[in-house]
Amino acid sequence: MLNIRLTNCLPGVVAAGIVAFSVALPVQAEEDSAIARGGQLYDKWFAVIGADKPKDTHKSWPSSNTKKKGNATWRCKSCHGWDLRGKDGAYASGSYKTGIRGLREFDGGNPADIARAVKDSTHGLGMIPDADIADLALFVTKGQVDMTKYINPDKSVNGDAARGEAYYNTLCAGCHGSKGEKPKDMEGALGKIVSGNPWEGLHKILNGQPDEAMPALRALPLQVAIDTLAYTATLPKKK
Ligand code: HEC
Ligand code: HEC
Repeated sequence: MLNIRLTNCLPGVVAAGIVAFSVALPVQAEEDSAIARGGQLYDKWFAVIGADKPKDTHKSWPSSNTKKKGNATWRCKSCHGWDLRGKDGAYASGSYKTGIRGLREFDGGNPADIARAVKDSTHGLGMIPDADIADLALFVTKGQVDMTKYINPDKSVNGDAARGEAYYNTLCAGCHGSKGEKPKDMEGALGKIVSGNPWEGLHKILNGQPDEAMPALRALPLQVAIDTLAYTATLPKKK
């Protein structure tokens, strides 16, 4: 009896599964690419939208920080951190120390709050088109990764570097070289950049590099990005 019932049900279940799959997949893929684009905007919005580089120092950049000025001070990441933890994260010290808050509490929050903040008087970034602000807001509310789970304060990465080597060699080496020595004009070897700032490395791996053809691994399981990060950090520190 049970068998008959199950057999009767099965085609329905399979059919429902196929419908759910074919409906869910494109929507998720679309959202992942919008989130990755939002991540690139968070990194360097003016490079992504092809706007002129701001020349002055941003009005909300604290005068206590004299290490950075000009367009660097207009990037979301400069004030709020690659880990989105601001003063409570990796930018608690160093040349990007500003004392500015993080944005972790907006994880799972309302995108409208982000859109409002970007245009408020603290930010004055109303020159970013609304469609781009929408991607940014999606990144901040749906694209955050709790980096403390994967990157330790001593910068070591909780990933499988051996597995990451295979990912690196298939996904990255074409552009970056098997030792992270490319592209030629990159400032420093990839191994030095990523081991020195794994939070930046993880952000770039998940979202791509603004205004470059670099892929974003956002749509793959997060562990692929973490393992790739772990291996990339072991690459030579010199080109
Ligand atoms: C020059 C530094 C600076 C830059 C660049 C910057 N912010 Fe902020 N941001 C701040 C400061 C300072 C606050 C805290 C304002 C306050 O508490 O009154 C803040 C607060 C926020 C808040 C919280 C607002 C609220 O209502 O609670 C959000 C969201 C935010 N920023 C998003 C962004 C995004 C997205 C970008 C990039 C487009 C960005 N910020 C770029 C300095 C900056
Ligand atoms: C299609 C080519 C391409 C592929 C594939 C690619 N990248 Fe990149 N990546 C670039 C370019 C171009 C840059 C910008 C280099 C520069 O700063 O001059 C870059 C920048 C980076 C940066 C930031 C360096 C910096 O200081 O700004 C990191 C980290 C990085 N890539 C890691 C990776 C990893 C890991 C992979 C594989 C998952 C990967 N990339 C795949 C082209 C690529």
